[in-house]
Amino acid sequence: MSTTDYAPPAERERWGSRLGLILAMAGNAVGLGNFLRFPNQAVQNGQGAFMVAYFVSLLLLGIPLMWMEWGIGRRGGHFGFSTCPGMFQSLTRAKWVKYAGAIGVVMPLLIVIYYVYIESWTLGYAVQSATGQLTGEDPGAHFTNYLGGDGGFLGRESLQGSWPAYTFFLVTMVVNLWVLSRGLSKGIEIIAKIGMPVLLLCAVALVARVLTLPDVEGRTALDGLAIYWNPSQWKALFDNGLANDLFNKGSAAIWLAAAGQIFFTLSVGSGAINTYASYLTRDDDIALTGLATVSTNEFCEVVLGGTLAIPAAYVFTGMDGVMSASSGNMGLAFITMPSVFEQTPIFGGEAGAGSIAILGTLWFGLLFVAGITSSLALSQPTMAFLQDTMGLTRRKAAMVVGLIILLFVQPVILMGGVLDEIDYWAGTFGLVLFSTVEVILFMWVFGSDRAWKEIHHGSDIRIPRLFKFLMTWVTPFVLLAMLFLWGRDEMLPILTFEAAPGGEYTETTRTGAYVGRTLMLALFAFFAILVGVAAKRGRFSAVEDLPAEEAS
Ligand code: TRP
Ligand code: TRP
Repeated sequence: MSTTDYAPPAERERWGSRLGLILAMAGNAVGLGNFLRFPNQAVQNGQGAFMVAYFVSLLLLGIPLMWMEWGIGRRGGHFGFSTCPGMFQSLTRAKWVKYAGAIGVVMPLLIVIYYVYIESWTLGYAVQSATGQLTGEDPGAHFTNYLGGDGGFLGRESLQGSWPAYTFFLVTMVVNLWVLSRGLSKGIEIIAKIGMPVLLLCAVALVARVLTLPDVEGRTALDGLAIYWNPSQWKALFDNGLANDLFNKGSAAIWLAAAGQIFFTLSVGSGAINTYASYLTRDDDIALTGLATVSTNEFCEVVLGGTLAIPAAYVFTGMDGVMSASSGNMGLAFITMPSVFEQTPIFGGEAGAGSIAILGTLWFGLLFVAGITSSLALSQPTMAFLQDTMGLTRRKAAMVVGLIILLFVQPVILMGGVLDEIDYWAGTFGLVLFSTVEVILFMWVFGSDRAWKEIHHGSDIRIPRLFKFLMTWVTPFVLLAMLFLWGRDEMLPILTFEAAPGGEYTETTRTGAYVGRTLMLALFAFFAILVGVAAKRGRFSAVEDLPAEEAS
């Protein structure tokens, strides 16, 4: 072993209990994606056909990647690494992989920059619901005022109207940073132990109310569920003409949207799961616990998330209402739902001010809790990187994370188009790209036999052998095919700013895209340099030759 100026911290952090770990992992996965993104995506991208593609993606991509990331993460933790640069280096002798690993720090950080902002709207809306400020408002106008409209606050005459958005954002940030600086078992784990039960209670209460809604003009909540629980349209997945007729989408677009939702909702493909898994000990089970995380997330997504916004909106606004609400990014959650609540009778009484105070607080409170357990998970890779690779203390690391988010969120708040640009690269495309790197490294370079053994070490279940085949051959080739299709159809127009992902830019959003893309590159460069500095100081030298030794 060569000299190391930067020894890993003598004691790495650990999860306090298995229950705490399970809830923290579930909190990581269950987030705004389950309650906001999923219904939008399902309705807009093929409905019944989407659901078929969704479950296929879960089986071929989601579950395999979850197990792999737990495997890579726990193994990295064993060698004293909490983030992907070190984890990747421990899988191969190739020196460049630690720089690819830097993506596993930057990507969650990029996601959390806009994720915390959306999370702060849910806090704002929860408070405003509870205090009656949403009552009697036109929900569309209220939302535009809150966010400053499509052009962000800079598109307005003055910054006056931005103070609620800023205030709730700062409060959300402070809460996140406070929890992070308390550490794993005293911070994140406690929040998960309180948050997950609260989330379930809120969701179940709302689901009960939605399912018992009186019908409006003959429309029931069950008809609303049938919008996407009708797999008879599955043929659209293989028949491009049919897909276009039925859904105005090509078959490929449906598959890509379904796969994209699987990545986002399970939190795979960014490095965030790896970091949480690194705090396990060598002999802890990952096969069963990883599967439990997937199951919990899917229950919260297709059962709870699926039964809230869409059926409720359907009852009150019909199919046209559902389609237009789900076409924008956030209209369903922040505009349609408040107006639905205002019309919903509760406790056998009349609809009105009380309904929005109670149901609105439950809904936005639920979203906030779902959001914060995910934003903590998204921040933790950067926290851990700054601590165990750069030698910062936990408090200093939290300050640096806070400063970066505070700085980078300004364009997201002030300008239109920046959020979508970052969401596209870090929250959509990047997840596919980074997963591909992980699968190839783990299953092909490190080797499928060793990977399979790694995942089964200490495990409470034996995974069916079929999955070894899927993980070695199917998952990587599906990912490569997705990248190929992207390269063929989208890469050039998107790289040259000719077309926006999934649409057209306006003047404003194109500027936002320039800004967003520049900032992302800058942040990646910054972290790649930090990895290089750490490498120079010998932080990775202990694992650089490891795979070869182990093999011999
Ligand atoms: N899965 C979370 C959600 O559904 C968001 C999230 C947390 C995430 N960590 C992630 C998304 C990592 C992508 C990558 O809201
Ligand atoms: N494009 C997303 C959508 O279709 C919007 C979005 C971005 C989003 N990030 C999110 C939604 C996080 C929920 C959570 O809705």
